[in-house]
Amino acid sequence: MMNAKSQLTVTFLPDNCSASVKHGVSLLEAVRKAGIKLPTRCGGKAGCMMCKVSVESADAGALRPPAEAEKRKLGSLLDEGVRLACQAAVWGDVRVHIPEDPLKAAVRRRLEAARRGEAEDLW
Ligand code: FES
Repeated sequence: MMNAKSQLTVTFLPDNCSASVKHGVSLLEAVRKAGIKLPTRCGGKAGCMMCKVSVESADAGALRPPAEAEKRKLGSLLDEGVRLACQAAVWGDVRVHIPEDPLKAAVRRRLEAARRGEAEDLW
């Protein structure tokens, strides 16, 4: 007998926003439902690796274990908690780390430098 909650909560970090999804929905769908932009090129076919996210080991069981295509693509990254959002299905409440967009990361570094008083050389 299956004992799954009908609605599961996927929380995305670092923004701490969440989506409520049904059991078995892909993480990529949950990402979109939460309004997060995660660009992809392969249409969710484990081809582009642009949908990489990570989960802490405590939450690993809240996602369907990786199938062959995902194992082949990620290799040892799987051991570090990396998953392909298009392949990982949600089986339980889970917290997912979205990697920072490179452009956003550059802006953040500049803002942090400005806060430290290094603004004069920045712009
Ligand atoms: S969307 Fe391309 S690998 Fe997941």
